[in-house]
Amino acid sequence: MSTGALIWLALVGLLVYAIRDRRRTWSEDAAGKLILWAGPVFSSAVLLGLLTYALWLMPALRPTTHGVLRIEVTGTQFWWRVVYHKSGRPPAISANEIRLPVGEPVEFILRSDDVVHSFWMPSLGGKMDMIPGRTNTLPVLANREGVYRGACAEFCGTSHALMAFSAVAMMPDDFDRWLNIQSSPASGAAGPGRDLFTRHGCGSCHRIDGTEARGLVGPDLSHIGGRETVAAGVLPNTEEMIARFIAEPEVLKPGTRMPSFAMLGSADIRAIARYLKGLR
Ligand code: CUA
Repeated sequence: MSTGALIWLALVGLLVYAIRDRRRTWSEDAAGKLILWAGPVFSSAVLLGLLTYALWLMPALRPTTHGVLRIEVTGTQFWWRVVYHKSGRPPAISANEIRLPVGEPVEFILRSDDVVHSFWMPSLGGKMDMIPGRTNTLPVLANREGVYRGACAEFCGTSHALMAFSAVAMMPDDFDRWLNIQSSPASGAAGPGRDLFTRHGCGSCHRIDGTEARGLVGPDLSHIGGRETVAAGVLPNTEEMIARFIAEPEVLKPGTRMPSFAMLGSADIRAIARYLKGLR
């Protein structure tokens, strides 16, 4: 039986006793003693006991950083920069999606580039603010495989409600395989889409590993084709949706820093979208 139930039973017992007990007169001395023992003495003893218990538990709660997977997430208007740090591997850069191994503790390192955001995966852990100039950490342990929704939980501007992501909890072997791919160059085939991407300067804001695109202002696109969503949790990841976002980012995500590329025409936009969707 839990401690909560014991306390509840004790309180109900006292209530019944108070209702059924005949009225008695108390001497001033007895009343004073009751107040002293049931008031400050009892409360202090209980609080001291709880404090001792909490202090005893604390060392086990402290995150162990050694050998643990660290996922650095930086909030920025209105998307997420994600970098995976695992000892013995080069960092893997990604964006707008979190992947984590089931049953292994992960330490999230949370930062912000501009205003206060809040990192929140309701089914996996508590909220933690992302504050400019400060680093917060959040230990998370996923117990079950699945795709969970994450979101920004602090108003951060016009598209705050459009700043989301998927959190995918995978079996450790699958996760390792996936991380290997993330830390290798992009797989996209050369073709008209890639030429257009380069020619129109997309690479000055976006990075595609293994190509001349090295921009860090916008989300990393090295393996965008394998993500669940595009535009940070807003649209399903299809060629059509990528094309739509290139044509009208401001409509789909008000306040975004990405300009519209509608002037390229739908055939060229479609070719770029096809190239991006092929990046696994
Ligand atoms: Cu970022 Cu709200």
